[in-house]
Amino acid sequence: MNKNKLVFANWKMNLNSNKVRLLVEGILSKLKPQDSVDVVLAPPLPYLGNVNAMILGSGIELSSQNVFWENDGPYTGEVSVKMLLDMGCSWAMIGHSERRQYLLETNEMINKKVLSSIKKGLKVILCVGESFEQRRRKKTFESIADQLYRGLRGVSEDLIPQIVIGYEPIWVIGSGEAASVNDISSVHNFISDELKSMFPSAKLLPRIVYGGSVNTDNISQISKLHNVDGVLVGNASMDCDKFCDIVMKVVK
Ligand code: 13P
Repeated sequence: MNKNKLVFANWKMNLNSNKVRLLVEGILSKLKPQDSVDVVLAPPLPYLGNVNAMILGSGIELSSQNVFWENDGPYTGEVSVKMLLDMGCSWAMIGHSERRQYLLETNEMINKKVLSSIKKGLKVILCVGESFEQRRRKKTFESIADQLYRGLRGVSEDLIPQIVIGYEPIWVIGSGEAASVNDISSVHNFISDELKSMFPSAKLLPRIVYGGSVNTDNISQISKLHNVDGVLVGNASMDCDKFCDIVMKVVK
């Protein structure tokens, strides 16, 4: 049963093989294995193998930024759960707002990815978040509930511990300024209540982590909020010093 805090690095479509190597070397030399924090790196797909070879035995885990729901077959450009497990991944990130926006991923596709991943043994970080327009029209909770219900449809209670919910308000991603602690708190409390009502007999509910312009200045405030079980970091996770500082501040 895992209630450790989680720090998840999403490098998106950035870096190159040399920069990836230097970044992972730096992280390995600065970060000592922590009992109370899970650290996960999600490099771009072509570098999964390189990162896996470097982090073996370190306690740091590997994630993809996407996955496809079929095992194998005529699905050009896609990668299956089986292949990710074979590459050393223990996690898949599913439903990031950038994939919903640019790759037109629907909640139905996301749901298939979630089900396929957890049934075959991958842990999942399912990203949900409201757009600026939805927030302006006071539709934040409605939008989050919809993404949760449709994304988690058919998930059995025994597999629930394999899932983490990443709350990422779309309007703050990459903006340099995180959502306010009040906004983060109220959405995390809402997600927690929704999960309780969706899975009333689950022994352990998904951890809920926050993402969106997390940095070394705001991490302490964010990570000590009730119902915030960790953070999902984009830009700041590609700077070794900043990323390690964030992890250490979550440990405290
Ligand atoms: P930033 O930390 O760059 O805002 O990115 C957040 C994010 O999208 C992580 O998945």
